[in-house]
Amino acid sequence: MQEKFTLPFTSDFEKDVYLGLTKFPKQLSSKYFYDAKGDRLFQEIMAMPTYYLTNCEFEILENHKSEICNYFKNGTESFDLIELGAGDGKKTKILLENLVRIQARFTYLPIDISTNALEKLKISLKEELPELKVDPIQGTYFESIKTLCRTTKRKKILLFLGSNIGNLLHPQAIEFLKGIRDLMNEEDLFFVGFDQKKHPKTVLDAYNDHEGVTEKFNKNLLVRINEELDANFVLDKFIHWEVYDPESGTAKSYLVSTEEQNVTIDKLDLNVSFKAWETIHTEISQKYDSEIVDWLCQKAGLEVLQEFEDPKKMYKNYILKRATK
Ligand SMILES: C[S@@+](CC[C@H](N)C(=O)[O-])C[C@H]1O[C@@H](n2cnc3c(N)ncnc32)[C@H](O)[C@@H]1O
Repeated sequence: MQEKFTLPFTSDFEKDVYLGLTKFPKQLSSKYFYDAKGDRLFQEIMAMPTYYLTNCEFEILENHKSEICNYFKNGTESFDLIELGAGDGKKTKILLENLVRIQARFTYLPIDISTNALEKLKISLKEELPELKVDPIQGTYFESIKTLCRTTKRKKILLFLGSNIGNLLHPQAIEFLKGIRDLMNEEDLFFVGFDQKKHPKTVLDAYNDHEGVTEKFNKNLLVRINEELDANFVLDKFIHWEVYDPESGTAKSYLVSTEEQNVTIDKLDLNVSFKAWETIHTEISQKYDSEIVDWLCQKAGLEVLQEFEDPKKMYKNYILKRATK
């Protein structure tokens, strides 16, 4: 076992898959859902009525775009609009269009781990908003934003939509928010979506559609391991399973092995054995209320400047800034 850790991993994906499948309980990171196929499946998920998050955030941005954009533009000549995990930018375009309309001077810097998502976003923005300055950055949130913040002197507006923060449990979310805070100057703003606690069935249904799209999305992790690391996962021998704990507000996605089986991952020189009903934990989708958001912010040295809610009161976007106290 010891020797295996000296394997010369050629990517974070290889390393994380190795470490995740050799630990107990097994886990894989949700950030690896997103390749061209994963991006497409996520777009299908967003289009499903059960995945309420997209519509809620869309409505908030549509209803409050003027006020939000004024916060971004106020007190500055020009700024950088940096988006963490931009995806297809469908909702962001509401803000981008409005900022262009009010003649704000800014550059849009979408960061995403998915090269495919960034490429598509760039092409669509060129068509839809040709006057917009776009500078896409492929990479993970922190590495990319740290590099970026070293080079920019302008006011920074950071966007983190889709309740992506919910992929982190509270202790990690606090570390993440602290990291963001440390990169922010006094005038910088952090605009972030936090999906709120609601009827547990509504939450469960969002990650458990009957058409099986979320299942395909979850299993795309195994497809990627098969294709990129020469593995032999048989998809039918795993089921997608979702649980939601209304007390903690944590929804968790699993892949569950339906039988005892062995999988080989040639590129990692690894044999992975599964007992019947053994799990691979793949995603967390944390739900919040305003007390929890306040607590997270307070722990991270941030404060809420303004919050916006959708008409059905299911989702909130917050404008955060560095705490003054
Ligand atoms: C759930 S989607 C949300 C997309 C968009 N923000 C929205 O609200 O519709 C997450 C996006 O973040 C990207 N992503 C996930 N984890 C990431 C990470 N650690 N670093 C950079 N991008 C990441 C994915 O590729 C994907 O495009």
